[in-house]
Amino acid sequence: MRMLLQVTGLVILLASWAHLSAGENAVAGSSIPPLKGTPQGGDFTLLSKSGPLSTKAFRGKVLMLYFGYTQCPDVCPTSLSFMTQSLNELDTPELEKVAGLFVSVDPKRDSVTSLADYVGYFHPNFVGVTGSAEAVASAAELYGAQYSFTQTNDSAMGYIVNHSATIYLIDQAGVLRFAFPHETPPETMLGAMRMLFEEGST
Ligand code: NI
Repeated sequence: MRMLLQVTGLVILLASWAHLSAGENAVAGSSIPPLKGTPQGGDFTLLSKSGPLSTKAFRGKVLMLYFGYTQCPDVCPTSLSFMTQSLNELDTPELEKVAGLFVSVDPKRDSVTSLADYVGYFHPNFVGVTGSAEAVASAAELYGAQYSFTQTNDSAMGYIVNHSATIYLIDQAGVLRFAFPHETPPETMLGAMRMLFEEGST
């Protein structure tokens, strides 16, 4: 199964690169740091537009987790569109078994309302959360997610956030099962989701 996914992924990845290269070249300076250690996973509670939201609320579903920020010029839009592409392959019963959680590491600029709007552009199964700098850092720590703030010369932007861009897949029991590096093809994530659906139905 794993080998099949990798072979499929390699083919799709080449196509994706060609598709994305224009957008990536347009933005220089942002970089993607590696994960800090091996992500352990675990539960956390942050704020959504509807109030405090714990990852425990997603038990019974497969959860796609990602750390980023709404003003991200390139990396987050790519990741979210890949996540969306994988979700778009699912039928309605499957879609009821999965959710996406976008954690903003930039609570200074991302309100829960703007986060809800932002993730809503991508897919209705996505929820956006954030919290105090300390709460966000604690959540990121569980998943080895790294981020740092860099001033830019562009005064309108103010600063950019360089952040790791791993997409995590958490199973129905809350266990972290996959950590997909940036630009992992949607087909690979789709295969992993369906594997977890099958496990969950037995
Ligand atoms: Ni980003």
